[in-house]
Amino acid sequence: MAVAGDGGNSRFDRLMPGPDSRVRSGTDAGIHAVTADRYRRFAAEADGRCRLYVDLAGAVADDDALLAFLAAQPEERRQPNLFLAAVRWVAGVPADGAALRQAVARHGAAIAAVMRARTTQTNEPGRCAVLLPALARLPGPLALLEVGASAGLCLLPDRYGYRYGGTLLAPPTADAPVFDCAANAATPVPAALPQVVWRAGLDLNPLDVGSHDDMAWLETLVWPGQDARAERLRAAIAFARRDPPRVIRGDLLTDLESLAAQAPAEATLVVFHTAVLAYVRDGQARQRFADTVARSRAVWICNEWREVFPGWADSAPPAPHPNSFLLAVDGRPVAWTQPHGQAIDWFG
Ligand SMILES: C[S@@+](CC[C@H](N)C(=O)[O-])C[C@H]1O[C@@H](n2cnc3c(N)ncnc32)[C@H](O)[C@@H]1O
Repeated sequence: MAVAGDGGNSRFDRLMPGPDSRVRSGTDAGIHAVTADRYRRFAAEADGRCRLYVDLAGAVADDDALLAFLAAQPEERRQPNLFLAAVRWVAGVPADGAALRQAVARHGAAIAAVMRARTTQTNEPGRCAVLLPALARLPGPLALLEVGASAGLCLLPDRYGYRYGGTLLAPPTADAPVFDCAANAATPVPAALPQVVWRAGLDLNPLDVGSHDDMAWLETLVWPGQDARAERLRAAIAFARRDPPRVIRGDLLTDLESLAAQAPAEATLVVFHTAVLAYVRDGQARQRFADTVARSRAVWICNEWREVFPGWADSAPPAPHPNSFLLAVDGRPVAWTQPHGQAIDWFG
């Protein structure tokens, strides 16, 4: 998702109800104006994180030919992240707005086909670093159920290593990736990794870590220049391929209970999600999901944008960063976290 380059819609796109009246009016001018607004908002979000995407999104907003190309795509497929990733997938990384125009002029049909066939989807294993302090406090052994698991790279928190400032939590095997995370003094940095006896993921579109195509697309959704992130992703994919987590196709709104029923009764069941609920645009549906988890025997760990459950941030101290996620356990906020797991500020 676009918060800190996550690969989805912009933050505003995700939680907004639907196309505005200019799109509903269906005129080319209306669609162009809305799309240009969307790309300008995206450029503002990318500012400070990816200079190239700021420039490319700005170029789109000011270019009639590019806006016309986007207007010809289905409304839900005009997302900046999807378009720019599709261009990169087909024609490589454009150096500037002129190269972007040229790529679309030459390869428009292929780019449009990618935009229709694929979705923006990421998997950020570094988020395990901010989940771990919450997980490690629970009575073990644990059964992990991740909704919106993507390729399942966040289902392996017990197999990675972590460096919280100067404190190293070594991985169980020397070949596992080690994630860096800045933790404030209040963070209960675990002394040991939790024991996980069962794990499963649920996703509308599960990605296969064994598939070269799936993983190459995942990597294309990492913004240009975010080299450390891409490297972390590659390392986690290579590691996960040796013993891939199970991720099944399903909707968190309808398929959670049947999957949860498969978890061993003697383990503490944890339902968790990171960077997922903003995709569920309807606030009542998000609340229904929360109610379902609350009714279950599971501990619920939620690491999401604060807009997802707007009232929750009221009981938290001010966020350290405008893009911070809120980490909550059973609906009680306990920490602000950085979107890719780079930092945790515990207050709970
Ligand atoms: C931004 S990705 C985050 C993936 C992973 N949680 C992470 O933090 O790296 C969001 C994922 O949620 C999935 N998703 C969105 N809506 C969903 C739903 N209603 N049910 C299940 N999965 C969903 C998407 O397919 C996507 O893989």
